[in-house]
Formats: sequence, structure tokens, C-alpha cells
Amino acid sequence: MSLAERNLTRDEIVGWLREESAERLEELFAAADGVRQARVGEEVHLRGLVELSNYCRRQCGYCGIRAGNGAVERYRMTAEEVLACADKAQAFRYGTLVIQAGEDPGLEAGWVADLVRRIKTQTRLAVTLSLGERADEELRLWRDAGADRYLLRFETSDRALFDRIHPPAPGQSVSDRIAQLGALRRLGYEVGSGVMIGIPGQSFESLADDLGLFRELDLDMIGVGPFIEHPATPLGSGGERLAPGAQVPNTEAMTYKVVALARLLRPDANIPSTTALATLNKKSGRELGLSRGANVVMPNLTPVRHRAKYEIYPGKACINETAEACAGCLEARIRSMGRKVGVGQGGRRKV
Ligand code: 5AD
Ligand code: FES
Repeated sequence: MSLAERNLTRDEIVGWLREESAERLEELFAAADGVRQARVGEEVHLRGLVELSNYCRRQCGYCGIRAGNGAVERYRMTAEEVLACADKAQAFRYGTLVIQAGEDPGLEAGWVADLVRRIKTQTRLAVTLSLGERADEELRLWRDAGADRYLLRFETSDRALFDRIHPPAPGQSVSDRIAQLGALRRLGYEVGSGVMIGIPGQSFESLADDLGLFRELDLDMIGVGPFIEHPATPLGSGGERLAPGAQVPNTEAMTYKVVALARLLRPDANIPSTTALATLNKKSGRELGLSRGANVVMPNLTPVRHRAKYEIYPGKACINETAEACAGCLEARIRSMGRKVGVGQGGRRKV
């Protein structure tokens, strides 16, 4: 049976994650590219990203906009600013607006619902929310307002590791992101999740379990990217790594393996070639992701004056480019690969 048709076991997934032979890895990448082509086609869907607010109440050990980082100048966009981004998304023929923020308690649920409703009435865009862990009633309110999709990475399926890198702040509930993904599914959202690759303390076995969980959760969208050290965070100096040979490296090469395996495990999911990957290889990271299983890119629409303040990790690609520059750049990159720019909303569940 070909690699594309096999139901990979956990041991086989670990084997691929540990694979070093360039020749064998070409087999993996070719299989992933073949499945991508057969199942989601040549279209690359563009999702315009708006970084709505960098306020955050969490203390995630890896993230540059964590509450404890006093050096960050905080901002929250106005509804008018977001609507202007939505108009741009439509003008650039993007199918989706992704609204992302830190876990900002100042984003009042009714205000967000109203914003979603206005975007859905004024444009043909699908709306994806990525606003962190929120109460079920809020998720329901936003779904009723017309939100189509929700992204919440579970970051790692290893509970002990998750708890280490997500210290609870006083008065906060214990995170259960898997439960929230279930709630999102029941509410009728298309559901996206994902992990960071090379978190200090992440073993090959636990990363294989993450991939197994992508399959189990039947995710509609899967976003993965390398962990990038942010100097102003507890994990900024590398954190507590496992012994060499046990620790997953946070490299570009490892990221491609995970993208390819995610495609084999969830053949019809929407999988972005992420900005974190483009950050490690600005010249061709996005293209390599797209040729090894990915079928989505997320051009940044955040007004340039806010962009540098949404520094979840340093050196982020496209920090100074305008929305127009990213639109042109990505379309050209997609065309130069012989792929097509997606038309329509590009959802997994056809409506
Ligand atoms: N390096 C790489 N990815 C990061 N994220 C947050 N901080 C970092 C970092 N230092 C990712 C997390 C989060 C997403 C929005 O960005 O996976 O879910
Ligand atoms: Fe932003 Fe290329 S995608 S400049």
C-alpha cells in the first residue's frame, strides 16, 4: 500500500519524525503533496489576518504578548478599523477574514458579536475567530452572529507539558482546550487547532500523539509552526530541554515533516503554510510548506502601525509590509509555483 493510503501507526509517525534521510523524506513530501492535490486541489486559499488586540490575561511561557511582558505597548483596534480591513480583504479577493487577539477580557462578547454581524452583512467573507479560551455562551453568541470558524491551538497533547508552559494566573480556570474544541464543534463551527514544534520538553512521542489527536478530533483546519524563542518570556532562553535525541528540534526541517504528516492524517483539512515557518525561511518557507502538504496562506491585514506590537515571537515575517504588499507578494508566489489562488470562502464543509 502506498504511503498516502496507509493508516499510519504511532510508531510509524515517530519513525518519520526521526527520519533524517533526505531521500526518504522526499517520499514523505511527495506523498503529502499528492494527497493535497487529490483531496483539496491546486487552489491556495487566502485568509486575511487581522490582529485585533494584543491585550492578554494569560501568562503563556513562550508568548511575547503574555500579560507579564510590561515592555509591550498594548492596543485594541476599533470596529471601524476592522471593517476597513474587511473591505480590503474583499478588494484583494480573499475569501476569509481571520480575527485574532490575545485573550483580551476587554473584548466584550456583545461587541465582538456586533462586529461579526456587520462583517457578515457588509461582505461575502467567511469569518474565523481566534480569540483564545472563551466561555461557551460567548462562543454561541458569536456563532449566532454568523462566525463560521474558530481557531484554538492545543499547543501540545502532553498535559504535564501544557501545564508547565501555561501557568494559571490568579482567579483563572484550568485550561481545557480539548473540551473547548468539542464545544465549538457542537455549535457548528469549522474547528481548527494545532501545535508548536520544538517546545522545550517536547518529545518525539508526544509530537506523534499531537498528530494522532489531529486525526481523532477530525480537525477542519490544522496550523503548525516552529516554536521561536522570545527573549522577554520564561522560555526565551531555551527553557528546559530534553536530552539531545529525545528533544524535538524547533527547526524548519521538523516543521515540514509535521505539515506533511498532518496532510496524510487529515487528507481534506485546510492546512496553512504559517508565518512562523516563513520567519525561519523568509525566502522560500511558505512555498516549501505549500509543496509539502499545505493549501492555505494567511496574509496580514493588520494596519502597519499596530503590527510590530503583535510580537508573539521575534523576527516575524511581514512586520513592515503593508496589506497591499503582502497581497501582491503572496499572489505572485502562488502563481510562480503553478498553483491557483482560491476563489470563494474555501471552507472545508461545502455549503
Ligand atoms: N513561537 C512560535 N509560535 C508561537 N505562538 C505563540 N508564541 C509563539 C512562539 N514564541 C503560536 C501559538 C499560538 C499562536 C497564535 O501562535 O501556537 O497558538
Ligand atoms: Fe508579506 Fe510577502 S507575504 S511581504
